[in-house]
Amino acid sequence: MSAPAITVVGSINLDLVGRGERLPTPGETVLGAMFAQHPGGKGANQALAARRLGADVSMVGCIGDDANAEAALALLRADEVDLTHCRVSTTAPTGVALIAVSEAGENQILVAPGANAELSLSDLPEDIDGALIAQFEVPLKTVAVAAKRTNGLVCLNLAPAMEVEEDLLRRADLLIVNETEAAFYGRDRLLSFNKMVALTLGGDGAVLFDKGSEVASARPPATRVVDTTGAGDTFVAALTVALLEGADAEKALMFACAAGARAVTIEGAQPSLPSRQSVEEILRGKAV
Ligand code: RIB
Repeated sequence: MSAPAITVVGSINLDLVGRGERLPTPGETVLGAMFAQHPGGKGANQALAARRLGADVSMVGCIGDDANAEAALALLRADEVDLTHCRVSTTAPTGVALIAVSEAGENQILVAPGANAELSLSDLPEDIDGALIAQFEVPLKTVAVAAKRTNGLVCLNLAPAMEVEEDLLRRADLLIVNETEAAFYGRDRLLSFNKMVALTLGGDGAVLFDKGSEVASARPPATRVVDTTGAGDTFVAALTVALLEGADAEKALMFACAAGARAVTIEGAQPSLPSRQSVEEILRGKAV
């Protein structure tokens, strides 16, 4: 079986992470956090996750002409994600995400999009052969045109939640939301599009619907939660890869849940994205 071809249109960030005992409340200062920086951005995370799970991946994105850019691209380069369609902006800095992570692994994320906000139609390939994965940390107009130019499966991760033209939702073949996003868009409304819709439920797993009816549900294996950052991105990539490989709904959803479960056991977004082998070991009950 040849590797699925996936183009990801999305954000590339450098994640500046403070890990402390708990998340601060508004106006509060919490001392004693440990600092780390990791490559991130929903687009880049999903691209790298798909690559590590065996897909041929091309990333369409925009970074700044600054030191953060190389740090943000380092793991995409190391795993040979095709960066031909990543542009260097001369006017905006590389996107940055300020992330607070608690001891329980929960996070709060504030994103300064920088160059991601400049990703435009002229950055897109004329035709996108194969599948597309996109999210909403880059301009919606660019995502909408990318979806129209794609001749394969279009997977939209509707994150972060925002008002979206109905045409774009209708063009997608697979919509992926978490519980907060499902409440924002309206679960029944999403199901009414008669597409595949995956609803993630955190530690409780995920449910997959097709044409409005539930076709699969899965629970991830129990894990020690270290950091949930990037787990949703892993799920998006893994579900897309499994469906492109021809897995049935149950198997594809279990694969995606196992990949997400593995991602929460390691700190950072991109450092935690699992290899194909590690996900298969989880599915064989060998490890998490
Ligand atoms: O989904 C996690 C990602 O959201 C982080 O890597 C951060 O960069 C933000 O885009």
